[in-house]
Amino acid sequence: MTDQRSTNDRPHAGKVALVTGASRGIGRAIALRLARGGAKVACVATSAERAQETADACQALGVQSAAYGVDVAAGAPVTELVATILAEFGGLDILVNNAGITRDQLLLRMTEEDFDRVIDVNLKGTFNFVRAGARTLMKSRGRIVNISSVVGVTGNAGQANYAASKAGVIGLTRSLAKELASRGVCVNAVAPGLIATDMTSGLDPKAAEALKSAIPLARIGDPEEIAAAVDFLCGPGGAYITGQTLIVDGGLSL
Ligand SMILES: NC(=O)c1ccc[n+]([C@@H]2O[C@H](COP(=O)([O-])OP(=O)(O)OC[C@H]3O[C@@H](n4cnc5c(N)ncnc54)[C@H](OP(=O)(O)O)[C@@H]3O)[C@@H](O)[C@H]2O)c1
Repeated sequence: MTDQRSTNDRPHAGKVALVTGASRGIGRAIALRLARGGAKVACVATSAERAQETADACQALGVQSAAYGVDVAAGAPVTELVATILAEFGGLDILVNNAGITRDQLLLRMTEEDFDRVIDVNLKGTFNFVRAGARTLMKSRGRIVNISSVVGVTGNAGQANYAASKAGVIGLTRSLAKELASRGVCVNAVAPGLIATDMTSGLDPKAAEALKSAIPLARIGDPEEIAAAVDFLCGPGGAYITGQTLIVDGGLSL
């Protein structure tokens, strides 16, 4: 009984997880949730300094953790960073592509730079990490979770670049699920609705109120509620789930 309980409490014991965008918000909550489940966690943000607090908090939970910095959109530096993490942690079992940005603007005002940068960080950044980690994840029969967004499914006025990048993440997820299934790797996406983080704290209060009133559960979500979905997909419960997009939005998309 005790053994069973400890397995349930620490479903990721001995596993190595890499979480991008781990300095704050949803990524920080995911890193801590996986660490609480026993995973060693490599925490990635734009600079190691920015991810250090999360790595310290993971270490305080009794697991190996370290902070790293990279621009996820930059292919060669990401490949180099993943090689460093593999060497320092001795493998990779869980990859969570969470780093993301918005540059919202109505279409006629959206610059090419705004469009390209959002696609580069949100979509190409995901591809860069998957490509760099794939060989090792095939060996470990690991799990990949890509953070999309509900607007990648529904679309959203003023977010053409962001919604396109997040819809792209879903297409990438489904394709990789088919490509990596024969190697035992499950690849899924989690699509959050409106979650309380820095990304949404700048929303005009009126717009936030209007959005909130459109959510059937009548509240904004917590980062921990996204982390719980990622934790499930990376644990024993996710072993037979691949290519799916789990929408965690309080019913917003209904
Ligand atoms: N919050 C929501 O309502 C919501 C809804 C749907 C989907 N999402 C998605 O959930 C994910 C996390 O969102 P969040 O709300 O937690 O965002 P956040 O609080 O703004 O945090 C973004 C994270 O991404 C990192 N990051 C941004 N650009 C990067 C780059 N070029 N290279 C490396 N790291 C980079 C940031 O690192 P630094 O600290 O170093 O800048 C930070 O850790 C994103 O993919 C977002 O699109 C969020």
